[in-house]
Amino acid sequence: MYKQLMTTLFLLSGINSAMANECESTIDSTDRMLFDKRAMSIPSSCKTFTVTLTHSGKMGKDIMGHNWVLSEKNQAQAVATDGMTAGLDNDYLKPDDNRILAATKLIGGGMKTSVTLEVAKLSSDKEYTFFCSFPGHISMMKGTLSVG
Ligand code: CO
Repeated sequence: MYKQLMTTLFLLSGINSAMANECESTIDSTDRMLFDKRAMSIPSSCKTFTVTLTHSGKMGKDIMGHNWVLSEKNQAQAVATDGMTAGLDNDYLKPDDNRILAATKLIGGGMKTSVTLEVAKLSSDKEYTFFCSFPGHISMMKGTLSVG
């Protein structure tokens, strides 16, 4: 009886943590200028969604810096181009660019950073692109994000 109860509690706590984890995701980046995901999906039941970016490489952020930036699909290239001009001091993002829906800091090898976005700001009808705004990286480091 006791053992059965404990098994039930264990299963329930497992379900709870699985539900909590739906509203967050981790994506890794490397010295080979790659993300480990090409697509991400946010359940529409999430109020907020947290993306944690890790950099499993060794190179510094001035040489192989990575961030995770989100915009509408058709604005990603323009945001990246403007970010190039903004320079390393601005993490290669134009300050106050309202096309940027979410962005982490720029990090180098061995570092980790997160950003939390309001899911209500996104639409399930639109296509979004996540990318790295370090100069030239968008060609290799981009993917699709959708809601729902
Ligand atoms: Co990068």
